[in-house]
This record gives sequence, structure tokens and C-alpha cells, in this order.
Amino acid sequence: MHVTTTPEKLRETLARSTAPRPHVLVPTMGALHDGHLALVSRARELAGTSGTVILTLFVNPTQFDNPEDLEKYPRTLERDLGLCRQHGVDVVFAPDAGAMYAADHSVTVTETSLTTRLCGATRPGHFDGVCTVVLKLFNLSRADIAVFGKKDYQQLAVIRRMARDLNIPIEIAGVKTVREPSGLAMSSRNSRLDKTQRADAPRIRRALLAARAAHQAGETSAKALLDIARSEIQATTGGARIDYLELLHADTLQPIDPVTAPAVLATAVFYGTVRLIDNIELG
Ligand code: PAJ
Repeated sequence: MHVTTTPEKLRETLARSTAPRPHVLVPTMGALHDGHLALVSRARELAGTSGTVILTLFVNPTQFDNPEDLEKYPRTLERDLGLCRQHGVDVVFAPDAGAMYAADHSVTVTETSLTTRLCGATRPGHFDGVCTVVLKLFNLSRADIAVFGKKDYQQLAVIRRMARDLNIPIEIAGVKTVREPSGLAMSSRNSRLDKTQRADAPRIRRALLAARAAHQAGETSAKALLDIARSEIQATTGGARIDYLELLHADTLQPIDPVTAPAVLATAVFYGTVRLIDNIELG
């Protein structure tokens, strides 16, 4: 496994490689867990035994709207490299912020439609940071395929839109959310939950499942479905603050009511200062 820390070294490593295509990219911010590793497995399948799997580890400062979240974001480089080795990653790219951004960088990618709600509304600038860094990683890796998780439903939709609208020659693959036995979606931020919060957080999944069950039983009122989910999330021991809970059209990410077309129910919930997201598709 090659570990590179600068754009130049990454380019050089990939240019020297004689491995046949495809090159498959897995962008991450590190603190790897089984959700990330599911992306690596999918990347390996797509690359075949002779293709190249490239994983990036970069806590991208420009996508954080909250300095405390950036500062407290877990960083576990040595452990991450061990997991990459174990799981057959071929090339790791782990730059520092100085290697990724010129001090006077001034060009940003902005998506203006799919980002009006959910994390786009509550985390100003977040998706500009995501789109810009992901485009940089696409350019640096020149990958044929990139793999993203459906846990970040809006992110996946925005990246697909960016690839389409900017004619980026890359295929985007989505991977199903990996969960803990409790149903809680795996997240690097889960390690920051205390014991009570850990017991409360699986309610997010139960809330989304309850709303989906009601929808499957014939309920199409967005308000009724949202009420079902909200009351389950709020029935905590330690307290939960809902950042957003929205029922949107699966493709446009705009509100839908009644829910008679494919939709996504997505939420972000604070447990103390830890913010977790999850979603479920309806219909
Ligand atoms: P990060 O949160 O590290 O996630 C990296 C990738 O792993 C994303 O595609 C995310 O959707 C996926 N992922 C995270 N948890 C998952 C889970 N439980 N099941 C399945 N997939 C999961 O998302 C980012 O980093 C950044 O925004 C990034 C795209 C790297 C740009 O900086």
C-alpha cells in the first residue's frame, strides 16, 4: 500500500502505476468505521483484483461551519492506515490542509438547488466545502469511479448533480448505510456520545422506521408522518434537539405532500453537542 501526503506524490504514484483501470476513489475524513469499510469493499468489487482502490483521509476544514466540531473531529491516522492495509486499499492520500489549499485559494463550487434544505440550510457553506474538496479529489485522482455512502443522502445527490452538471468523467456509486446492532447509523461522531446519549440515539432509526411503516400502511400526509418520527426522537432520557426533520421528494429534495412519489425522510439530531444524521427512503 502506498501512502501519499501531497498532491504531487499522489499524481506521481498513480502515474507510475501499471495497474489496469479502473481507479476507484473512496473519499473520507478518516476515523474509519465499518461504514467506510463497506465503501472500501464496494470499491474493491468495482476495481476487480487488478484495478486500484484509492482512499483519501482528509478532515476538510472548509466544510465545517462549527469550529468546535472541526476541532473535536476524531483523528486516528495510524489506526486508519492499519485498516486500509487490512482491507486491501492500494493507495492512501492523507494530505494536511496546507497541501490541499493555497493560502489565497479563491475558487469554490456551489450547488444551488439540492442544497436549499436539510444540511444545506442548517450548515451554511457546508456543501460548497464538500463540492470543492470532492472536485479537487476527483481531479487529483483522475478516478473512473467514486464511492459514497447513502447515509449522507443529500451529499450523494449533490455529488451526482455536480458530476452531471460539470461533465466530470466519473461514475458515482452509492452504498447502503451500515448500522450498529441497535440500528444507529455508524458515524465517526458516535465516539463522542456519552452513555445516555448512546442509549437515546437509536431512536432516530426507530423513528424513521415507524414513519415508513405508517407510509406503507397508507398514510400519505407529510405532517402525520413527520409527527410520528418527531415524537419517537423526542422520547429520550437525556434530551435530543432536532436540527431538522424533513420529508422531501427523493430526486428534487423539495418538500412533498401528500407523499405519493418516492421520498426521503431525513433528520439531523443533536445529542448535547454531537450532531447525528440519518435518512430513510419512502415509496
Ligand atoms: P465522512 O463522513 O468520513 O464519510 C466518508 C464516506 O463514508 C461518505 O461517502 C459517507 O456517506 C460514508 N459513510 C459514513 N458513514 C457511513 C455509514 N454508516 N454507512 C455507509 N456509508 C457511510 O462524507 C464525508 O466524509 C466528507 O464530506 C467527504 C465526502 C470525504 C468530503 O470531505
